[in-house]
Amino acid sequence: MRYLLGLDIGTSGTKTALFDEEGNTIKTATYEYDLFQPQVGWAEQNPEDWWEACVKGIRDVIEKSGVQANDIKGIGLSGQMHGLVLVDKDNKVIRNSIIWCDQRTEKECDYMTEVIGKERLIKITGNPALTGFTLSKLLWVRNNEPDNYEKIYKILLPKDYIRFKLTNVFATEVSDASGMQMLDINTRSWSKELLEDLNIDKNILADVYESVVVSGHVTEEAAKLTSLAQGTPVVGGAGDQAAGAVGNGIVSEGTISTTIGTSGVVFAATDSPRFDKEGRVHTLCHAVPNKWHIMGVTQGAGLSLNWFKRTFCAKEVEDSEKSGVNIYDLLTEKASRSKPGSNGIVYLPYLMGERTPHIDPNVKGAFLGVSLINNHDDFVRSIIEGVSFSLKNCLDLIEEMDVKIDEIRVSGGGAESSVWRQILADIFQHSLNTVKASEGGALGVAILAGVGVGIYDSVEDACRKIVKGNSKVEPNLDLKEVYSKVYQAYNSAYPRIKGF
Ligand code: XUL
Repeated sequence: MRYLLGLDIGTSGTKTALFDEEGNTIKTATYEYDLFQPQVGWAEQNPEDWWEACVKGIRDVIEKSGVQANDIKGIGLSGQMHGLVLVDKDNKVIRNSIIWCDQRTEKECDYMTEVIGKERLIKITGNPALTGFTLSKLLWVRNNEPDNYEKIYKILLPKDYIRFKLTNVFATEVSDASGMQMLDINTRSWSKELLEDLNIDKNILADVYESVVVSGHVTEEAAKLTSLAQGTPVVGGAGDQAAGAVGNGIVSEGTISTTIGTSGVVFAATDSPRFDKEGRVHTLCHAVPNKWHIMGVTQGAGLSLNWFKRTFCAKEVEDSEKSGVNIYDLLTEKASRSKPGSNGIVYLPYLMGERTPHIDPNVKGAFLGVSLINNHDDFVRSIIEGVSFSLKNCLDLIEEMDVKIDEIRVSGGGAESSVWRQILADIFQHSLNTVKASEGGALGVAILAGVGVGIYDSVEDACRKIVKGNSKVEPNLDLKEVYSKVYQAYNSAYPRIKGF
């Protein structure tokens, strides 16, 4: 049997997953690391922590599975998108990575819009200037840490730093590179005109490949550290959203996905680049050759419930530790004891600003409509509903772009809860399917690796063979009216709290 390895360098941890060529999960390992917030709205991580988590994870899955390293035929890399990793000429990391949810770069975004123009930015990069994306972070370093900027030899995305550690090659691929905002997503190559206008040296960028192309091979040193076989091919891989989409079979028009991870995403594959004039949804290259994708992103999805748990749920955390019941199962069970509409509370999930549909890095979260009748259960439910309304904002915009929606697949940590799935189906008023693979992103890039090393003919072909349907949730039609009223209330809130 041949095996494929997928690595997903996430925000809370790195998941390493080993699959056989039929897509069965053989072994997984997850190692967590810290997120640093030196100031409100800032978010950083140490790339060496990612590498350490990868080394441990790879060793674990190889040792515990008993699979021979030589039988691992390819490796795919996925991970949090947009993070800025700066490497100097001695290949040392210059400073902590400024990651995707960091919001410090509003000034740099204004500058980008002034120099390039909003319309031209959308036409070239698929997006207006965004605080979350890599380019504005690079400009922030140029403006605020000139000494660090001077030292830059290469800039890399999180997963591409791991590629460098594994293969000694500086490379990236189109799906993640699109999220750097320096790629011309129409030609799928670095935009010379944009780089020139912003006075950025193209040499600091890594070579960019299609996601299924082999970009390098495991070095002797990395083989020793990880127990992988020297020479194992590493393919381009994909940013976490495109990777998750491949793992869920979202590779052609008609089937879309919604993911409730730390952030929340509604994702659709398209046959050509399609843009929202206002840039409220992202347009990026897909990890499938000659395909693009659009996605709406809400910044604080699972993050909202995680924050609430850490801040307001000491008793529930204690109960969970005593009983052994997963804390999120306890919380979603509490949500099911409240009512649709959370007895009047509307939660706005803007803990780290918002992208879709507001593109507002400064907006803050809120609980509105709180009264004396409300209890803890209502607060938990309002978080699940608020995040789901935010995902509905994404879905509405994608529908407005005339994207065919035959099927919606749901995935991510939040979607493991049947309560959350049902609430989402009720708010969308659309059935939601789940697929069997729970390793989404890691499976997605293992599939890309399988295509790159010739195990599968194409991404579409591999998905047909591997991605299998699981359960289906039907929306409760009786809740259509109540949820459309609360949705209106939710939508009326942003203009009122904007700027607060
Ligand atoms: C996508 C995005 C997130 C991060 C972290 O645009 O910002 O998906 O990649 O998960």
